[in-house]
Amino acid sequence: MLSIEGLEVRYGAIRALNNVSLEVRTGEIVTLIGANGAGKSTAIRAISGLVQPSRGRVLYQGHDIVGTEAHKLVGQGICQSPEGRRIFANLTVKENLELGAYLRYTRRAEVTADMERVLELFPRLKERIAQLGGTLSGGEQQMLAIGRALMSRPKLLLLDEPSLGLAPFLVQQIFAIIEDINRQGVTILLVEQNAFQALRVAHRGYVLETGDLTMQGKASDLLEDGRVRQAYLGR
Ligand SMILES: Nc1ncnc2c1ncn2[C@@H]1O[C@H](COP(=O)(O)OP(=O)(O)OP(=O)(O)O)[C@@H](O)[C@H]1O
Ligand SMILES: [Mg+2]
Repeated sequence: MLSIEGLEVRYGAIRALNNVSLEVRTGEIVTLIGANGAGKSTAIRAISGLVQPSRGRVLYQGHDIVGTEAHKLVGQGICQSPEGRRIFANLTVKENLELGAYLRYTRRAEVTADMERVLELFPRLKERIAQLGGTLSGGEQQMLAIGRALMSRPKLLLLDEPSLGLAPFLVQQIFAIIEDINRQGVTILLVEQNAFQALRVAHRGYVLETGDLTMQGKASDLLEDGRVRQAYLGR
């Protein structure tokens, strides 16, 4: 579904990604792990069209999408749930979700059905449907960000740190929901600081260190790898 080849991204003099190549196959959950500043968000943003790479290709369903505007990519099935829960604070839960489907806003019945499906996945949001986004708890805002991304009917969902700042119980819940979404047929690229949980739900993983991919493999193998355990799993 997605194939990145030799990607380089620069911010002025800083090279945030250096010759990164990775693949996400249809139906997979692939995780990208790495320390703060490793370039994980940059990679996600390069795929979703929010930053322009200086070198390399991003092939989505066989077509190079470098230079395609982000909103067009949403229409083609790539949607990102950004780091830090960027929801609309002054809009209600319902309005936030509806915005996720703005490309299909004339197809009311379809959008309503999708919203019901999302609210089934997140009963907490259902109870708070008329509440303003900005008054939701951190975990609820995270759910709303993911739910809003789902409203675009993504084929490829890019999740940037979905468990950031959540209490352990909610972290478990979020990862269970990620598996659910994947079982419903959505391919997922998951960026996480919580390497342990990410590798537990993912099929394959990549390790990014200051802009370079240093390891890759089956998630279960990475979980057992001595270097990964020492650097990212704290054990
Ligand atoms: N807009 C920007 N301008 C300049 N430098 C940037 C910009 N965005 C990111 N960087 C730099 O690029 C590097 C990679 O940042 P990025 O946000 O991709 O890291 P990350 O792996 O997502 O980190 P974290 O785990 O902290 O979210 C960092 O050194 C960061 O300071
Ligand atoms: Mg980041």
